[in-house]
Amino acid sequence: MRGPAHQKETLDPAPGVVTDQISITNFLQAENEYEVIAEIFNGLTAEKKTISSKYFYDDTGSQLFEQITLLPEYYPTRTEKSILQRVARDIVAFHGAPEIIELGSGDCSKISILLDAFQEGGFESLSYLPVDVSEAAVIQSSEELIDKYPGLQVQGIVADFMKHLDGLPDGNNRLICFFGSTLGNLGEKEATEFICSVKRIMKKGDSFLLGLDIVKDTRTLELAYNDKQCITDAFNKNILSAVNNLAATNFHPEDFKHRAFFNAERSRIEMHLVALKDLVIESPHFSQKITLKKGETIHTENSRKFTHEDIRQMANDSGLSIQGIHTDHHEWFSLVHFICNG
Ligand code: SAH
Ligand code: AVI
Repeated sequence: MRGPAHQKETLDPAPGVVTDQISITNFLQAENEYEVIAEIFNGLTAEKKTISSKYFYDDTGSQLFEQITLLPEYYPTRTEKSILQRVARDIVAFHGAPEIIELGSGDCSKISILLDAFQEGGFESLSYLPVDVSEAAVIQSSEELIDKYPGLQVQGIVADFMKHLDGLPDGNNRLICFFGSTLGNLGEKEATEFICSVKRIMKKGDSFLLGLDIVKDTRTLELAYNDKQCITDAFNKNILSAVNNLAATNFHPEDFKHRAFFNAERSRIEMHLVALKDLVIESPHFSQKITLKKGETIHTENSRKFTHEDIRQMANDSGLSIQGIHTDHHEWFSLVHFICNG
C-alpha cells in the first residue's frame, strides 16, 4: 500500500533495501492501527466531518495523482517544471555539489530536472535523499534514478515530514526541495511550524527550494480541481476506499458527489464529498454508527493558494532569507529559493 502516513514511528529506523547505490531507511514501522482508526473516527464524528488528505495516497490514489499532474486543467505541475527548467542552471551555479533532500518526493519527476542540470555542470557524484511516507514511491523512484544517473547515491527515507525531520542524517551544503505546493495541503499553523522545522535542520549556506501555487482567477483555480475527465473526482472518492481498507468502514464511493471550489476568504481550494442520500457508516472498530444526511459533506482537502505577502511572512516567521522568487509568465506558480544565513 502506498502512502502510509499513519504508520507507527520507531526510534531506530529500520534499514531496508541496501545496494552499492541505494539504501532505504524506514522511520515508519508496523501500522499503528489504533491511531489511524481513532483519527478517522474523530474526523467523521466532528461537527463538520473531515478525512485527513494524507489518506489520499494509497496505491490507487498515488496513480490517480500522477494522472492529475498530466491533465490540461491541472497547471501546477507543468508550470513548476517549466520554472525549474529555467532556473536549474542558476541553482547549480549557486550551490556547486550539494546534498539534495526532497520532501514529499512522490515520483521524483521534478528532481530529474535539477539532476540533469547538475550532470551538465559536471557534478555527477551527488547524494539525494527522497523523503516520503510511501515506501513504494521511495523505492521505485530511487531505482529509476540510479538507472538514469549512475554516479548518484540515493538514501531513501520513508518518513513523515511533519514528524521526522530531526531524524534525517546530518549533512553539509544541503539543498532541501519541497515541490508541488504540497505545503498548501497543510493547515496555516501547521505550515508555519513545518517551515520553522525545516529551518531548524538547516545550516548556514543551505538552501530551501519551495514550490507554491499562487492566487489567481477563480475559474482557472476551480477548473484545475474539476477536470473534464473526472480524474480529480475519482481521486477524491478514492479516499473512501482507502478509509474502508484502513478502518473497515462500509463507504460506497458512488453514494457521494465530488465538490471542489475556491474559498476566497481562506484563499484555498476545498475538496468535499457530498452524500447523495442519507447514509449510516459503521465499522467493527467504531464505538458508534455515523449518520450522514443527504447533502451533508465530508471535507477531504484544502489546497491553499499563496501571495507574495505570504512568502515574505514565511521568511519572517522562520528566519530564512529569500534568495530569489522565480515565477512563470502568468505568475501562476512560484519557486521560492530561501537560504539560511545561520
Ligand atoms: N512532490 C511531488 C508529489 C506531490 S503529491 C510533486 O510535486 O508532484 C504529495 C506527496 O507527498 C505524495 O507523494 C505523498 O505520499 C507525500 N506526503 C504527503 N504527506 C506526507 C507526509 N506527512 N510526510 C511525507 N510525505 C508525505
Ligand atoms: C499534492 N497537492 C499539492 C495537490 C493539490 O493540488 O493540492 C493534490 C491534489 N488534489 C487535487 N488535485 C491535486
